[in-house]
Amino acid sequence: MQPYAIAPSILAADFARLGEEVSRVLEAGADIIHLDVMDNHYVPNLTIGPMVCTALRRFGISAPLDVHLMVTPVERLIDDFLAAGANYISFHPDACVHLDRCLQQIKEGGAKAGLVFNPASSLDALDYVLDKVDLILLMSVNPGFGGQRFIPSALDKLRQARRLIDESGLPIRLQIDGGVKQDNIRQIARAGADTFVAGTAIFGQKDYRAAIDGLRRELEA
Ligand code: DX5
Ligand code: ZN
Repeated sequence: MQPYAIAPSILAADFARLGEEVSRVLEAGADIIHLDVMDNHYVPNLTIGPMVCTALRRFGISAPLDVHLMVTPVERLIDDFLAAGANYISFHPDACVHLDRCLQQIKEGGAKAGLVFNPASSLDALDYVLDKVDLILLMSVNPGFGGQRFIPSALDKLRQARRLIDESGLPIRLQIDGGVKQDNIRQIARAGADTFVAGTAIFGQKDYRAAIDGLRRELEA
């Protein structure tokens, strides 16, 4: 993957035309596609399941699919998303009883495994599993909805996570999710993020290429 990756969240896409929306955003320069899976239990919203992943593959989408599970329990859905063609599967440690087992389940299924941390959660869950993690996802909003404002304390947490990753020497991606816009992405990158989820900042614009180019311009500046 490139040093910086842009991951549009389909939560802000037009679901009535999802295949076209995903194709358009990929043509516009997106690197990976972020799928927000919500169960109205772990978070107070209900979105999509593995069927949508399967449907995107059938539609011909071959780009990496990055599944963000906001569900509890996670075990069953891990298998279903593996079968549906997910490339990255991330889950919240507090939504899962046997964290190490779930990470193994993802990796044995051939996908990359991620752990997700809510704005007020510490990174302690990484202590004994850092070597099994391919992706650390820091939430910069409380999970459940798109279009929320970036919580600034995520910047310090990004620095902390970046230190952990660099000290480990492991090739772990550091992803940020929530309220990422053109006017804050540079600061977020400087704090250590390398993978940027953006929903409304991309799908909320008419011209997806202009939106993605605008984000990249800030990263290159
Ligand atoms: C929130 C989701 C995010 C969300 C981001 O629970 O995990 O991926 O869609 O949306 P924006 O970019 O609009 O904040
Ligand atoms: Zn997400």
